[in-house]
Amino acid sequence: MKYEKRISADGSETLYSKEYEECYHSIKDGAFQEALYKHVLPAFSLVPPKPHLRILDICFGLGMNTLTTLHYLQYQSATKSVTIFSPELDSELLLLLKDLRYPVQLQKYLPIIEQLVNNRVYKSDNISIELFVGDAREYIKTLGGIDIVYQDAFSPKKNPMLWTVEYFNDIASLMNEDGVLTTYSIATPVRLALYEAGFRIYEMQPKGVRKITIASKSILPLQEIDMEQKKLRATAQPLRDKGEEI
Ligand SMILES: C[S@@+](CC[C@H](N)C(=O)[O-])C[C@H]1O[C@@H](n2cnc3c(N)ncnc32)[C@H](O)[C@@H]1O
Repeated sequence: MKYEKRISADGSETLYSKEYEECYHSIKDGAFQEALYKHVLPAFSLVPPKPHLRILDICFGLGMNTLTTLHYLQYQSATKSVTIFSPELDSELLLLLKDLRYPVQLQKYLPIIEQLVNNRVYKSDNISIELFVGDAREYIKTLGGIDIVYQDAFSPKKNPMLWTVEYFNDIASLMNEDGVLTTYSIATPVRLALYEAGFRIYEMQPKGVRKITIASKSILPLQEIDMEQKKLRATAQPLRDKGEEI
């Protein structure tokens, strides 16, 4: 078995991947807390209010960010409907999801997980979700008009292909000008890669979890990081695809 079950700090269950030698969520911050406070709440508080939002969830994993988005929709009024696009490379993982114990707040959405795993799509009056089983790098080339990106891949050290300048160039192309990207990574090479792809870089300290990075092509009401200064001082380099190193 490639995975082991782990209980995270908020009591929600997550997995450890033996292949990547990493957990799917932060054990210290808690899987549900992480989805809510590092991705969903920051993104919805910073993106301009719109009746319909298009969201890219990189990558589906246990579906925690997607389900937490559905949970949050109930508590706000600006957004009436969402379309969520989510790639996931590991089809074996998807078959395990029915045996996981999800946080109580997300349990009512488990039939949606089942439909996604069986049919790769879910549609209701206000929710549309597409689960793409395959490589995110290929999938993102087919998308556009995205308002929110949850950048939640395994760490840059373990899964570098989802953190490079070339990858973020494609992400920048599919995002709207006022779109917002959230990520748990505060690593300088990641921020440099996002900056080189044309994003402004912001830092945020959400409640109860560790600091996050926010990226957007627009000016946001957050403390912006002076990336030109960082470039001058940093010994770190932005991550690049293999063969693209300078
Ligand atoms: C940290 S986990 C995502 C956790 C997820 N956001 C959640 O809320 O449960 C990273 C996921 O990326 C997937 N992955 C790794 N490389 C990928 C790729 N090139 N394309 C699509 N998915 C990929 C892994 O199989 C894993 O499920």
